Amino acid sequence: KLVNAHNMVHAAYKGKYAIGHFNINNLEWTKAVLETAQKTNTPVIIATSEGAIKYMGGANVVVGMVNGLLEDLNITVPVALHLDHGQSVEAAKKCIEAGYSSVMFDGSHFSFEENYAKTKEVVEFAKQYGVSVEAEIGTIGGEEDGVVGKGELGDPEEAKKMVDLGIDFLAAGIGNIHGPYPANWEGLAFEQLKKIEDAINFPMVMHGGSGVPQSQVEKAISLGISKINVNTELQLSFQKATRAYIETGADQDMVKKGFDPRKLLKPGYDAIVSEMTNLITWF
Ligand code: G3H
Ligand code: ZN
Repeated sequence: KLVNAHNMVHAAYKGKYAIGHFNINNLEWTKAVLETAQKTNTPVIIATSEGAIKYMGGANVVVGMVNGLLEDLNITVPVALHLDHGQSVEAAKKCIEAGYSSVMFDGSHFSFEENYAKTKEVVEFAKQYGVSVEAEIGTIGGEEDGVVGKGELGDPEEAKKMVDLGIDFLAAGIGNIHGPYPANWEGLAFEQLKKIEDAINFPMVMHGGSGVPQSQVEKAISLGISKINVNTELQLSFQKATRAYIETGADQDMVKKGFDPRKLLKPGYDAIVSEMTNLITWF
């Protein structure tokens, strides 16, 4: 059974580690993430952007698939199903009604006042269902599924106001970027992260978790980061393994039935498992 993400993230905050949030795209992705979490005995957050939900057919499809896998694969570690970067109050409510156990309301493209008011509405609605809520202040640089940000750093006072609304964890702009990090990236804004942490003493979320060097991940965790969002890293691993499989011509081998879609998707599946195992070990 799905659980909300409050307890796992708050336990991580106290224990100075981080929970992995992994974006999924299809059945293979979801199965790989759940099996890896179970094998490593690690709580996990399965996340879908609005774009991924649309791709898979709708929120009910995602909820049905995840719940079915939890049961048939005998997954016993805590699993939360989370809406990533919900762009509207309506999108968050729809996912909650469909059975998501956690939602992010990303109002970072609104003024702070509007972001605050809309986050408040999501929190009030989510509480009735026992669903956890992530809010965002500042913006994340780069682009993810049509969500574009300039990378403004989060403000400690705004952070405090959000926390006082009763959210469960907070995403803040801390110099992080969605997608691969550019060669001239200046690294995470640790001074700002520390100012925010000092103002709230509350679990924070690091978006753009792909490609952050291990030393920076560790420092961020020591400064209150308790949930790390990863999307691009698993996509790159999947793509690389799938491409290699096709380029060796193994998919052309009729004797081995390499054209079977279940075989075609297997190397990518294995790559997700191995990359995710590395990542959660760090976190
Ligand atoms: O919300 C999802 C994450 O922020 C993913 O970022 O694609 O850079 O790993 P990433
Ligand atoms: Zn993100």
